[in-house]
Amino acid sequence: MRAYDIILKKRNGGKLSKEEIEFMVNGYVKGEIPDYQMAAFLMAIYFRHMDPEERAILTEVMADSGDRIDLSSIPGIKIDKHSTGGVGDKTTLVVGPIVASLGVPVAKMSGRALGHTGGTIDKLESIPGFRTSLSEEEFFENVRKIGIAIVGQTANLVPADKKIYALRDATATVDEVSLIASSIMSKKLAGGADGYVLDVKVGSGAFMKTLEQATELAEAMVGIAKAHGKKAVAVLTNMDVPLGKMVGNSLEVLEAIETLKGRGPEDFTELCLNLAAWMCHLAEKGSFEECLAMAKEALESGKALEKFRQLVEYQGGNPEVVDRPTEILPMTDKTVDFIATQDGYITAIDTEKIGIASNYLGAGRKTKEDTIDYRVGIEILKKLGDYTKKGEPIAKLYISEKSDVESALKLLSESYKFSDKKPEHKP
Ligand code: URA
Repeated sequence: MRAYDIILKKRNGGKLSKEEIEFMVNGYVKGEIPDYQMAAFLMAIYFRHMDPEERAILTEVMADSGDRIDLSSIPGIKIDKHSTGGVGDKTTLVVGPIVASLGVPVAKMSGRALGHTGGTIDKLESIPGFRTSLSEEEFFENVRKIGIAIVGQTANLVPADKKIYALRDATATVDEVSLIASSIMSKKLAGGADGYVLDVKVGSGAFMKTLEQATELAEAMVGIAKAHGKKAVAVLTNMDVPLGKMVGNSLEVLEAIETLKGRGPEDFTELCLNLAAWMCHLAEKGSFEECLAMAKEALESGKALEKFRQLVEYQGGNPEVVDRPTEILPMTDKTVDFIATQDGYITAIDTEKIGIASNYLGAGRKTKEDTIDYRVGIEILKKLGDYTKKGEPIAKLYISEKSDVESALKLLSESYKFSDKKPEHKP
């Protein structure tokens, strides 16, 4: 077999066999296929796409390129959740404790911030002492004892994706449905769960800007899961506006704790309850409606909040963060308001720019090596459809001495659009 012939076949719109896909992916991981051939191969997929069968094979071959986690020693149906990435997306911090408190085991590997989107692992690490790297034994032990553990991805989880993703990033081949779906689902398959709830973000802060693109991605991911005998549900959710009010690490943990206390923003609470209900439903705890009622009860009774406290304690963090979050979390009282320059309804927010503005303050990374300042971020005071008067604050920036406040304010002013007419509410 030759890489040249496989590239040519895909370039001409052909369907690849399992052997051909294995040859390319495994050869690339081993260093036998050079970057330039893999780049050409990815570009051929970008233009010619893959059918559902090819996607399922590509996903499996990638998942098999490294360790696969075996969760079979944990009793019960294990359901994982995945978000395609958003701004202010702290759902795992709330959904994980809700479902764990309802008896669904949560053995979760989460990611770090990169680009304009935040990462659950960085948010958790803003809690003093919280360890996101546990030994395999400790990870399993915690899930068996308290029903939940959240850790960073192990070094040898889908090495093919690490290498291919870096190349896609450099060759304008990231945004192709088969490539995104196989990249995400290979990590899900390797994570060992029995099923997945996929939160596919749509809108200005998401990878998928239109409902049509997001639907295509959701269908591709569910198709891959089913081809591998896994259960899956995809939920398309709005990323035309940051989720909740807080963007930034400590700020998002604070908002997650408030939500677990039943005082969270409406949009964020609604999303968490829905995702939790789908996870419980896939774990066969009841119908979706029954699970939604159970999830609400877990929030209202404080059961989910207590599960979060246990999670923090078992992973070495200070559990008092639940009672005194603003004292325990690294916070700053240095703030700058972003002020409305006109009267009107907010009709559009470029959410990606809000994510980038938060990075200018120090909340995210430009490269994998960058360090994060947990204290900084943005509190959104006015959201889509809200009316503002000239001179009113729209957002509050939490800053440090290193924050590039000027660039952040410039981006914010570019990201908000106003009109006299109230825009339609999108669910
Ligand atoms: N997230 C991933 O893990 N992979 C992609 O290709 C896109 C988003």
